[in-house]
Parts: sequence; C-alpha cells; structure tokens
Amino acid sequence: MCGIVGYFGKRNAAEILVDGLRRMEYRGYDSAGIACLHNRQIGVVKSPGKIKGLREKVDASNLVALHESTLGIGHTRWATHGPPNEVNAHPHLDASGHFAMVHNGIIENYKEIKAGLANQGIECVSDTDSEVLVQLIAYCYRDNLEKAVSQALKKVKGTYGIVVMTDKEPGKLVTARCGSPIVIGLGKEETIVASDASAILPHTRDAIYLEDFDMAVITADGMEMFDLQHAPINRETTTMDWDEGAAEKGDYAHFMLKEMFEQPDAIRNAIRGRLDFEMGTAILSGLDFSPRDAAQIGRVLVVGCGTSMHAGMVGEYAFEEMAGIPAEVEQAAEFRYRNPIVTPNDLVVAISQSGETADTLAAVREAKHKGAVVAGICNVVGSTIARETGRGVYLHAGPEIGVASTKAFTCQVSVMLMMALKVARTRRLPRHEGELLSRWIQRIPELVENVLAQNESIKAVAQKYARAEHAFFIGRGYLYPVALEGALKLKEISYIHAEGYHAAELKHGPIALLEETTPVVALLNNIPGKDKTLGNAEECKARKAPVIAVVSEGDEGVAEGFDDKIVVPDCPPCIAPIPTVVALQLLAYHIAAARGCEIDQPRNLAKSVTVE
Ligand code: M6R
Repeated sequence: MCGIVGYFGKRNAAEILVDGLRRMEYRGYDSAGIACLHNRQIGVVKSPGKIKGLREKVDASNLVALHESTLGIGHTRWATHGPPNEVNAHPHLDASGHFAMVHNGIIENYKEIKAGLANQGIECVSDTDSEVLVQLIAYCYRDNLEKAVSQALKKVKGTYGIVVMTDKEPGKLVTARCGSPIVIGLGKEETIVASDASAILPHTRDAIYLEDFDMAVITADGMEMFDLQHAPINRETTTMDWDEGAAEKGDYAHFMLKEMFEQPDAIRNAIRGRLDFEMGTAILSGLDFSPRDAAQIGRVLVVGCGTSMHAGMVGEYAFEEMAGIPAEVEQAAEFRYRNPIVTPNDLVVAISQSGETADTLAAVREAKHKGAVVAGICNVVGSTIARETGRGVYLHAGPEIGVASTKAFTCQVSVMLMMALKVARTRRLPRHEGELLSRWIQRIPELVENVLAQNESIKAVAQKYARAEHAFFIGRGYLYPVALEGALKLKEISYIHAEGYHAAELKHGPIALLEETTPVVALLNNIPGKDKTLGNAEECKARKAPVIAVVSEGDEGVAEGFDDKIVVPDCPPCIAPIPTVVALQLLAYHIAAARGCEIDQPRNLAKSVTVE
C-alpha cells in the first residue's frame, strides 16, 4: 500500500526521495509527493498518478528547498479516504505550513479529532484521515517536535507509520510506528527512513526495524529512540541480506515475468539445507520444535490472505495426509473476528509473503492471545509477522516486487510441505516414505524449469483466449487451491472475470454461466480424482465452453477432445500444485500482456495490504 521515505544526510534529498518512491512503486499507489526543508522553508510538490509525473514537477519547480535541501520526506498514496488528487496526496502540511508529515495506516478516530480541531478554529483542507494527525501535532507543539508527536499519537486510535518535520527545528526528522512498518537505514553520514527495505537497499544494509509505539528522532548527531512515554529504548541493528539487483527487473519486460523465471532458484534457496534424506525428514531450525513438542500438536490452523491463503490450503491437505493431524485453513480476517476456538495444543501457522498484512498480523495476535503455539512463514526478513511469531521459516525467495504473487506461492508451498513432512515424521510417516517425499521436494526446481521451458507454447494458448471476458478454473484435491490461485492470477492482472471452483461444485450453479466464449481451465493432472474432474470438464465442453486441459506428461491422451492442452511433469499429488501453478501463472501473464495490461501494478491493488 502507501510507501514512506524520509532522508537526512549530506546529499540532495529530493533525488533520494523520488528514487526511493520509485523503488516502492510496486506496492501500489495512485498519487505521490515530497516535501524538503531548507533554510527554514518547506517546499512541497505533489502529483496524482505516477512517480514520473512527480519527477517532472520536481525538476520544473523553482522552489529552492527542493533543489538545495538535504532533509525531506516523501510518500506514495493508495487512496482510502478521498480520491487520489493533489490535495489528498501526502506530505500533508498543518494549517500554519510549519509542519509536514507523511503517514501510512488509518486514523480510525479522525472524525472526532477533526471536529475537536475545528472547535479550535483549525480546518482541514483534504478528505484524508492523515491530515488531522499533522494538524494535531502542530496543535500539540510547544518547543519540541518529538514531544508534540508523542502527545498527538496518544490521542490517536488506529494504525500509523509516520515521518514528520518542522521548520521550527530544521535539523530533525521524527518517525513513529504502530501497525505500519518503519525501517531506518543507517548509512554513512546519512539516515534513510522507509516503510520498505527496497528504498533503503541502494544506500545501506544496516537497518533498525521499529516496533509498535516506538519513536525515533533523527538529527545530525545521530538517532535516539523512545517510547511514547519518552523513555529511551534500544533496538537491534540488523543487516538486510537482499541483493539490491534482485529488486531491479533487468532485461525482463515485467517483474512478474522475472519472478516467475526466478522460481527454480528461489525454491532451491527455500529448501537448501532443509532436507534430511537419511532420516526422511526436514530440518527447520526456526520452528524450534522437539519431536515431543511436535507429537503434542493436536491441530494445525493455517491463516493467511489471498495467494498466501491458497498456499495454506495445500499445507492443510499435506498436514492431514502425511501427519494425520486435523488441519484447517482460514482467511485471516475471518479467523480474527469470529472468536475462533483455539487450544494450547493448536499450532497456528501464519503465512505472509510481506509479513505485514494487517489481517494476518491481527490473526497472529489473536492466536497468541488464546495460547496457541504460533509460527510464521514469511519472505520479508524482520517483518512484523516474522518478529511477532518469533518462530517460523523464512522463504529466502528474494524480493517479490510484482503485485501478483508468484515465487512466494511456490516457495510457500515448498516450505509447507517440509513443515508437514517434519511433523509427519514424528508421527506416523515411515522413514522410507519421508525419504521418497524429500527427494521429490528436492526435484521441485527441475519440475518448475520444465514448465518454464514451455513459455512460448503457453503464450500461444494465452493469445487465443486474450479477448475472453470470463473464465473458470476447476480442480480437486491438491489442485483445488491451484484452481483458486490460477483464477486469482488471471483476474488481478488481466481484469478478466475469473473464478476458481472445486470441479464438483461447478454444476451446483456456476455452470449456468458457461458459453462458447467462456474458457474453462481444467486441472486434469494424474492425481486421485482425475477421472471425476475429466467428467466435469466434459460437462463444460458439452455446454460449448472451450476447455484448456492441464495434463500430466505421459498422460496426454486425457486432453483429447478438448480445445487446448498444457502438459506439466507427472509427480505425486502433493507436489503437483507447484508445476501446475507455474503453468497458470504463465497463462495469466501472457493473457494480460496480450491485453496490454499494466502487469506489475494492476489497478486498485497494493502489494502489501496493511489496512483491514
Ligand atoms: O504479503 P501477504 O502474503 O500476506 O499478502 C497476502 C495477499 O495480499 C497476497 O497474497 C495477494 O493476494 C497477492 N498479491 C495476489 O497475487
């Protein structure tokens, strides 16, 4: 969602801010702006639309502050309160023009605060919840910015990640967080604050992640951290291990394409050193379970959203099938609000690529509150969910920039399989079966390479269906979550209305929608239930819907009579989701490309959904 960047150092602030915002474009946004402070003057430039427009405005501006300053703040806004126009874009100024602030998150009691400010004669000019916070900070100000910030934040309900500056104390940036990430990059004679490591990586690897209710004051003398009561605190400096180049798209047309092609290596990284063939198990040191702990798990509850939830569904099947442990997957917001029954013998697994998804984080807190053992599967090291779960497994997939999640999904499924294998071996799975499975997990990168090698033929299939308005994906067993994920990929990047269904469910209603122009992607891999799905695909064909059959190598005959086929490697049912989803990712990508869609930043979407 929104992106924040702040800079204090010796270089030109505007350049660093605009570049930082560009690096966070992938998060999704619809307007952007920067404010720079120089000679007690704050210069602000904002622009609806893309960073390119903002950059042009900055270059054309005759505000000295923008060209001379070495201190400033910037923001990309994903509209929540009020349309994406210049007034609603950040940075927001207070009514006096002395304070500037950027904010991520939602101020839930903004109407109340706004009314209180109006009673004091302070009128807001934008529709946003954010502006009230900078007005409140200015109202609380006496002679110290951090004190005004903490005083204002104590009155706020909701979530925030903020960076504030004032021309009354020109050598200072104040940042604070509650529920919206803030990372502080510690460079040589410079400090960069951001909501996302990608804006910091080109400048430094040393970073501090703020915790909820932390504040940091950045001056020329360094940085000090406090809690909202103004008591000093310390946070560890961590080294960010992502390669800066990994966040660039290189020769690929889109990040999504690059990330799909990175999958073999990403999965290699996710499984490296984690398989023990001799014992037929997985070594996941971050899980921190003894066999005795594992034996006591009574149930596995997986929580997540979107693609991560789909990966969790594969995990649900794997835990039940391999370990014989009851498992359930639940949309994280539903888990959080429906007062779920959680017992101390439950293992709650939170899956999140970003580690910042608001609903998944809230589900983690609810599960911890109810006494469950909670583990995380995250990609972003040091993210809030990774830190709050305390135990878990990192994907090591490298930065995922494309809004449509691809390599995170295949790594999440690989990790879930290893997790299920580890627990299963402490329960009922015999060693030889564990060994067989670990050898298949080891082969996943090769299976993915096989599908990626079919890029051109999948593109040819995609081009036939690029003008469709609706599409269905059907599958069962381990491929049911893949049908959901295939439909999600297609709808989010091509804007084709796509639905994923359990193959058996289609005739309970959705089949009414089928017609000659509505393709059905049928997952007919060689797994239990294939013959039933085949029958369902025939039913679609009988209604004149074109069928794209995804079949296993060596079983191509299944595709006979259907309109198109995609062949994926034959492998055990629990492994099949991975090569199959890669075929569906490519299909969605090429359809979206043929339709001329903005693949890496689809309309209305944000990479990291940090509001409920
Ligand atoms: O960062 P997370 O994995 O928690 O994100 C959850 C979803 O927002 C995410 O998977 C979303 O559905 C994907 N961008 C879809 O491709």
